[in-house]
Amino acid sequence: KILILDFGSQFTQLIARRVRELNIYCEIHPFNHFPELDSSVKGIVLSGSPYSVRQEDAPLFDFAKYHKTLPILGVCYGAQNIAHFNGGEVMKSSSREYGRANLQYIEKGNPLFKNVPSGSQVWMSHADTIVSLGKDFEIIASTDTVKVAAFHIKDTQTFGIQFHPEVTHSIDGKQLLENFLVDICGCVQDWTPDSFIETTVAGLKEKLGGDKVVLGLSGGVDSSVAAVLLHHAIGKNLYCIFVDNGLLRKDEFESVLDSYKHMGLNVKGVDAKQRFYDALAGLTDPEKKRKAIGRVFIEVFDDEAHQVQDVKWLGQGTIYPDVIESVSVKGPSATIKSHHNVGGLPDFMKLKVVEPLNTLFKDEVRKVGKALGIDPNILGRHPFPGPGLAIRILGEVTPQKVAILQEADAIYINNLRSAGVYDKVWQAGTIFLPVQSVGVMGDERTYENVVCLRAVESLDGMTADWCHLPYDLLAKISNEIINNVKGINRVVYDISSKPPATIEWE
Ligand code: XMP
Repeated sequence: KILILDFGSQFTQLIARRVRELNIYCEIHPFNHFPELDSSVKGIVLSGSPYSVRQEDAPLFDFAKYHKTLPILGVCYGAQNIAHFNGGEVMKSSSREYGRANLQYIEKGNPLFKNVPSGSQVWMSHADTIVSLGKDFEIIASTDTVKVAAFHIKDTQTFGIQFHPEVTHSIDGKQLLENFLVDICGCVQDWTPDSFIETTVAGLKEKLGGDKVVLGLSGGVDSSVAAVLLHHAIGKNLYCIFVDNGLLRKDEFESVLDSYKHMGLNVKGVDAKQRFYDALAGLTDPEKKRKAIGRVFIEVFDDEAHQVQDVKWLGQGTIYPDVIESVSVKGPSATIKSHHNVGGLPDFMKLKVVEPLNTLFKDEVRKVGKALGIDPNILGRHPFPGPGLAIRILGEVTPQKVAILQEADAIYINNLRSAGVYDKVWQAGTIFLPVQSVGVMGDERTYENVVCLRAVESLDGMTADWCHLPYDLLAKISNEIINNVKGINRVVYDISSKPPATIEWE
């Protein structure tokens, strides 16, 4: 495997994605907190950073003791970090170097640049530049303005590059990474969904033996894939619990429960609708609603888990972005903080946690799910918030409002599907507004509620753009909702992006 040591760059996860696209397994660790280097580690990549090595509190680490034993590739700040500790000098650039550049000079025959043509476009993003190098260094690539675009330390496998090979604007970036990983580190490109499944299932079998595991299914991609992997390993010793909180989409509980049973999972559907509605009665503050739902879920789940005799483990669908330790950009004494979802185990359950997906990114979870033969309807499903429709009903949640919203939402989602746009939208949903407005239906004056349609494009939910859905489609959806859903006489479309808005309304 490859270790990626993180100095706090926004691109660190992207480097990991690129390495894995080359079917090579890698892990991200904070620069000052990495694991034992055993023989499974074939090389190290040092990430970029928002810091300058000249800053007093910069995150710095001297890798010199590894130069003779392990291939190292420093990217941007990572390269400057290497130069800094080995007799080089890093200064503020006279002009900020940001954007496209071309490698006018590339050293002939250097293994890092195999099949990278001279003139190749690369992406620069740095305020500092390496102005001089230690005596053992050689320059292996330059652009018109950046003399040290890439260097090599003689008699070692240590390289530094000033540009970002992980972004697609670096045209031959993937080739360069492949050269480093395969030719220089000697990695074998055999990490695929199938090999992941094989090793994970074998590992789970060994770890769990004859133990029983309980797992909460949500209908989402992560918990479903985690369940199927565990099922392959331990079969009927996996006890799945799928809670109907009364806040799911229309008919979702029944249809998803059905697919789970079809997959052969040992799953119990629990109707807890009333417990959730009771807890939500009278609450209008979004955070109080969220807390109430979280509390009731834990109570219901715990009741169910207690019905399984001698259960030892709690299965969870935690994925890699949730467990990557982030580098606190406060310098070398950086405290390492974990994501708040990790260890989300209530104390009183006292179970050990098993998380078969905690090394995978979201798109990899989908690929593994596909290789496991899971229903494409489950794998391709839009993200749906844990508190469900409760945060799409502004103000107090009542079963009547849920029923109205479910009808309107079903019309919306079915139309997105039949128009062939469902898969192009990252997330869509309908919001029940606490607003009544006047309308006319026939000769009658109405005074009813408004629903809002939301559809966004996004990569990870952190930022999002509203989707430009075709007017004809919006017109059809609006008509169908107003004509068929009693209680709604007006439909609006949300044209706000995130930031400054958010995807949900609460
Ligand atoms: P926002 O509204 O913050 O949403 O732009 C970003 C993503 O997070 C989801 N979301 C939640 N998911 N519990 C969840 O499990 C929540 O309380 C919650 N709030 C928002 C939202 O659906 C979107 O995908």
